Amino acid sequence: MKKHICNVDFFKETLSEKDFKILSSFIEKECGIQMPPSKKILLESRLRKRLRALGFNNFKDYINFVFNSNDGRYEIVNLIDVVTTNKTEFFREKAHFDFLLKEGLPNLLPLIEDKGIIKVWSAACSSGEEPYSILITLSEFAEVNKEIRDFYVLGTDICTRMLEKAREAIYPMSSVENIPFEILKKYFLKSKDKSLGLVKVIRELREKLHLKRLNLMDEVYDIKDSFHIVFCRNVLIYFSKENQIKIIKKLIRHLITKGYLILGHSETVLDSSLALKRVGPSIFLKLGD
Ligand SMILES: C[S@@+](CC[C@H](N)C(=O)[O-])C[C@H]1O[C@@H](n2cnc3c(N)ncnc32)[C@H](O)[C@@H]1O
Repeated sequence: MKKHICNVDFFKETLSEKDFKILSSFIEKECGIQMPPSKKILLESRLRKRLRALGFNNFKDYINFVFNSNDGRYEIVNLIDVVTTNKTEFFREKAHFDFLLKEGLPNLLPLIEDKGIIKVWSAACSSGEEPYSILITLSEFAEVNKEIRDFYVLGTDICTRMLEKAREAIYPMSSVENIPFEILKKYFLKSKDKSLGLVKVIRELREKLHLKRLNLMDEVYDIKDSFHIVFCRNVLIYFSKENQIKIIKKLIRHLITKGYLILGHSETVLDSSLALKRVGPSIFLKLGD
């Protein structure tokens, strides 16, 4: 992609109301994320990085490039990458993992078919902390339940930058400090150079995480499998009520009957016509069709 010559003070560049509207309605249509006027400053500061990287003098030229040039469509992935909020952590909302160990996974055991494989989808996996927390939970459960022969997690996200981090599986020591020492020792390796203060998830777990870019706003999800559990946490809060319902309907098509849909603590199922029963904090059981 051609780099544009630029000699501007980025901190002075502002996004006009009109350009903000063009971008915010595009972002909501494309990836569901709502951008009310209160998000203008945030969008402005995140997009400055893209202006700087491409050498544009102002937002107008950047918008013109994205929407009216042949190469613009390649920039859309980067535009979406910068607007997503990717905050996550290991064993975030711990009640969900406790539920799985004590109730969810034991209930699923009779439903696991003869190959003995548990399949879980983490449908907004960010930089990988969520799917690796699920894999650790599954591994601990499988150790004492020999009928489970294998397990894997499909991790999807719209943000390519986050998928790359999930693939690398390297995290600062500070992000694992609340994980019990026994678990840490078993599933993470410390960097040889201690001064870096990094850990890496062990290969055996990394191999059980399949990663793929997927936009929850897609009409149909390009996924063949049915899952025993679907996590979709802390992403629907950014979407309109209408899109939340549409997405939940699409997600549960990929969930087995009596499988679990797990949302974020501040999210819920808003449509009582869906065949879902609440069985825990933001945990829903899929009822028979
Ligand atoms: C706040 S993080 C939540 C991560 C994790 N689920 C958790 O609870 O810790 C939200 C994630 O949703 C992703 N996301 C936002 N819009 C999306 C979309 N339309 N399709 C797929 N992922 C999306 C973002 O890239 C981000 O990584």
